[in-house]
Amino acid sequence: MKNDFLLFHRPFISDEEIDEIVDTVRSGWLSMGPKTIRFENEFNKYIGAKKSVAVSSWTAAGHLTLDAFGVKAGDEVIVPTMTFPATAEIVCYFGAKPVIVDVDEDTLNISLKEIEKAITPKTKAIIPVHYGGQPCDLDEIHEIAKKHNIKVLEDAAHSLPATYKGKKIGTISDVTCFSFYATKTLSTGEGGMICTNDEELAERCIIMRLHGINRDAWKRYTESGSWYYEVVAPGYKYNFTDLQASLGLPQLKKVDLMWESRRKIAAKYTEALKDLDTIELHTVKPDRESSWHLYPIRLHLEKLTKNRAQIINELRRKNVGVGVHFMPVHQHLYYNETFNLSDKDYPVASAVFPRLMSLPIYPGMTDANVDKVIDVLTDTLNKFKK
Ligand SMILES: Cc1ncc(COP(=O)(O)O)c(C=O)c1O
Repeated sequence: MKNDFLLFHRPFISDEEIDEIVDTVRSGWLSMGPKTIRFENEFNKYIGAKKSVAVSSWTAAGHLTLDAFGVKAGDEVIVPTMTFPATAEIVCYFGAKPVIVDVDEDTLNISLKEIEKAITPKTKAIIPVHYGGQPCDLDEIHEIAKKHNIKVLEDAAHSLPATYKGKKIGTISDVTCFSFYATKTLSTGEGGMICTNDEELAERCIIMRLHGINRDAWKRYTESGSWYYEVVAPGYKYNFTDLQASLGLPQLKKVDLMWESRRKIAAKYTEALKDLDTIELHTVKPDRESSWHLYPIRLHLEKLTKNRAQIINELRRKNVGVGVHFMPVHQHLYYNETFNLSDKDYPVASAVFPRLMSLPIYPGMTDANVDKVIDVLTDTLNKFKK
């Protein structure tokens, strides 16, 4: 990588995380242990949920949640097409059907109208994805869910921290799952968290994250632990580790500071780019606060001489890395062929996708980095303007 290449993302790691990792390695306790429990407790306090359960990824968190919901073969779970495929794949793990629906044009969040249309007697749950960090229409989603007796699992992989009508994401639905993957707003390399107000559900997830061993399995190797344990269900190997918690604990302390930094970058982009007629900016609704995990823009391709791939190549040539979030799930080979899906059933996502790109937005960016993105993007769009 060239030195002056601006990466699309870089985690915000300081000496505190490095010292904590060294401390963990020296302690000899590398897998799940006291630091994992401390991270869970502190995360739970930060969010204000009743219970938080740390696991190996969002995908593991979602899988355990659907297991706790009792999803089984033949059930249906509604998911938006504008997401990372993990949101849909966890439904397939059960032999259940991911019912993939279109999104709203303005926010790219799941469409209420499409949810209503997709509900059948087999529908067990809805997984609204807070695209880019902006919360979905949760009041309306809960109204629909209540009416049809359906569970809600919020995919909050992008939305730490975010609020909806003043309430923190993580406190609102049956379950909210966060991701701590390398590019996320709090990173432990890999990792995830299940936040819930349902203690029984949390209990099931705690057991199932570690082979189905009854409670506090990780303590069996401590001084006070017992060698004896029982397996009460065929669980999974989805536990978090103290090495991950060593990154998570210091990251959690600065989660608001990192958010503030992203918020400022977003404001600067919006101010600098709002009058460019070759792009459209993402809509942010007034009653919610985004985490600003992503800063998506849409190209007005009809006003440009190049397509998105060519524009991304030009930005890269000028040392600016950008991303694309996401290729809609219904276009991925497996989902497309298995469920016989067609672009015409997803008019919004199919039309927006070829125009989408995400600009770099992370706390380690300097003012000069942000200016560089603005200048390079503006020059490139002007150069390719019809
Ligand atoms: C919206 C969304 N959901 C789920 C995931 C999966 O998260 P993880 O990699 O922690 O399993 C991602 C990861 O990129 C995501 O963007």
